[in-house]
Order: sequence, then C-alpha cells, then structure tokens
Amino acid sequence: MSSALTDLCRYPIVQAPMAGGASGPELAAAVSEAGGLGFLAAGYKTAGGMYQEIKQLRGLTGRPFGVNLFMPQPAYADAAAVDVYRHQLAGEASWYDTPLGDPDSGRDDGYEAKLAILRDDPVPLVSFTFGCPTPAALSPLKRAGTLTVVTVTTPEEALAAQHAGADAVCVQGIEAGGHQGTHRDDPANDGGGIGLLALIGQVREAVPLPIVAAGGIMRGSQIAAVLAAGADAAQLGTAFLVCPESGANVLHKQAMTSPLFNRTELTRAFSGRPARGLVNRFMSEHGPYAPAAYPEVHHLTSGLRKAAAKAGDPQAMALWAGQGHRLARDLPAGRLVEVLAAETAAAGSALALRHPA
Ligand SMILES: Cc1cc2nc3c(=O)[nH]c(=O)nc-3n(C[C@H](O)[C@H](O)[C@H](O)COP(=O)(O)O)c2cc1C
Repeated sequence: MSSALTDLCRYPIVQAPMAGGASGPELAAAVSEAGGLGFLAAGYKTAGGMYQEIKQLRGLTGRPFGVNLFMPQPAYADAAAVDVYRHQLAGEASWYDTPLGDPDSGRDDGYEAKLAILRDDPVPLVSFTFGCPTPAALSPLKRAGTLTVVTVTTPEEALAAQHAGADAVCVQGIEAGGHQGTHRDDPANDGGGIGLLALIGQVREAVPLPIVAAGGIMRGSQIAAVLAAGADAAQLGTAFLVCPESGANVLHKQAMTSPLFNRTELTRAFSGRPARGLVNRFMSEHGPYAPAAYPEVHHLTSGLRKAAAKAGDPQAMALWAGQGHRLARDLPAGRLVEVLAAETAAAGSALALRHPA
C-alpha cells in the first residue's frame, strides 16, 4: 500500500501529537529516526513556541514529521453554566492553594498565526483537530507541498474533510486517549461515539482518502488489524506517552499501568470537551457536572492541574489515556517503533499462513 502519506515513513506507524507536553521534539525525532512519523503538538502553545519546537526538531532529524493544530472554537458556551462550575471548583482551588483561571482567556489557540508560520516555512505534514479547516486554509499548505490531514470521528466529518480538500483523514475511534477531535461538541451526541474498526469501515466507504487510524492501538497485531480494515497507517498516543523521550509528567506515565487506575472514561471535567482519561477523584467528583464549554473549562482548571502535578497528586491531574493503557511498554521510542513494526509484520504473516492466497 502506498500513498503520499505512507511515503513519509518506512513503517505505517504515526506517533500521535499530544498537547500538554508529551510530544516534543525529542519524542518526535526518535520516532521519525526509527522509521515512524513523529509529530509535534502545537495546541496550547504560542505560535512562537511552536516555531521554536519545529526548529529544534529539524536540528535533531532530517526525517519527515507532522505538526498538529487545534481549530478555533465557536463561541456557544453557556456563561451561566461555566459560572456554576466555577463555584463548584472553589473547594479544589483552596485545597491546591491556587486561583481558578479566567475562562475567557482565548478560544482560537493562535490558529491564524500558526498557519502563517506553516505557510511561510512549510513542514511535511499538518493535521487539524476539533474542526474542519476551510479550503482557503488548506490550499496554500498543499501548494507548498505539505500533506494535510483532518481528524474525524464520523463519516459525515470525513465528507466535510474531503470537501475542504484534505489529503487524508485521521479516523479517531471512541477508544482514543485524550480529546475526541469531534468537529462540534454536541452533548446530544454523548454516548454515540463509534469504535475504531466500525468507524474505519464507514469512512472507507464514504470517502476515497487515505486513512490514519487512531484509538486504543498498543500492539503491532492491532496495527495489522486496522491496515486490514482499510487504514493506511496507525496513530498511537498512549503507547508513546510512557516512553522516556515523552515529556509527560512522571505521575501520568506511572498511572498508565498502576493498579490504582484501572479504567478510563470520557469526561468534560478538565476541559469542557469530551476527552478520555484514567478515572481519578477529580473526574469522578466533577465529571457529571462539567458543562460543554471548551476551552472555557480548560482555562478554568489549567492552574489546578499544574498545582496538583506540583504537589505530586495524580488525583486532580488530567491523566489522558486510551482504552489500551494497560499494555503500555516503557521502551525508548525508537525501540518501540521497531518492536511495533516487527509485531505488525508477524501478524501479517500469521494471517497469510492461515488464509493462503
Ligand atoms: C496525552 C494526549 C494528548 C493528546 N493531544 C492531542 C493533540 O494535541 N492533538 C490531537 O490531534 N490529538 C491529541 N490526542 C489524541 C491522539 O491524536 C490520538 O487520537 C490518541 O492518542 C489515539 O488513542 P490512543 O491514545 O489510545 O493511542 C492526544 C492524546 C493523548 C493521550
């Protein structure tokens, strides 16, 4: 199988962009050097901060890599609901001795400034999450030779990505760690998320674009499964989060395989948008009451999460994790790419033996 996408790397293995510190230049370089596709997460960073990381990464590897952008969010949050939630979190603020953040600290994540940098100094691949970019945003990137990828969680979103002119879609199943990249967060759709294999099948028949499959993938046999289902590559977040090159907090890394954290849930507790993480005290106590208000709730809880990490308390940190978290392996990222590639090949051979052509 070959496409402009798979030509970027030797193996069909993409290290997911992970905003919040996990996927910096060191992790991305190790993955790209080993034959996978490393990714920088521009989310929550300034445009200048993103550019510094790109320069740093270029200094570490000459191999292709991706940069991921958050789409600006429309203003439809219910201010009264955010205020009620702010009052609910007052006890957390005094416990962690830190003020709650200003919910109105911005909703565009510096999108236009980041796009301008990526237009002026093109990178091999740019992906988008939390919405669908316009054709006007995509075409200059494409003209500059950048491959464009839009994250989708339904076949309808895949059609929107195709109409906008995206080169490929990142199909994100409900198993995925971190935020769902849903184009519009609608609480009426809660509980309606689609599992990865079911979603790949539907997207495959809806659009002719190459597919990067994401969600719960931890082993090469699962990579082989999504390739067999019609994906061109697999994108893994949780699997790379525990690598030594990942900048994730050590408590977050340890929690992945700790018996104290044995299940994940989708929650709006930390950011106001559904995201999958290990169930901890903060999620259990506040998740059921958190409003659909991203990024307002993200800004509100940002200081709390940092204070909890500083205090060494994982119970109020956002422990983003996919459903496969128990299978996390603490291997150097380059080694993990090699192991995953070997497992993928072995699974493919086993299948061929069982079903000879
Ligand atoms: C800690 C963490 C942060 C993430 N941040 C981003 C991000 O900034 N942009 C993005 O498109 N996806 C982000 N994701 C989602 C991943 O792209 C991917 O869909 C997910 O990791 C796949 O599921 P898995 O974690 O089970 O492998 C994040 C995931 C995690 C675990």
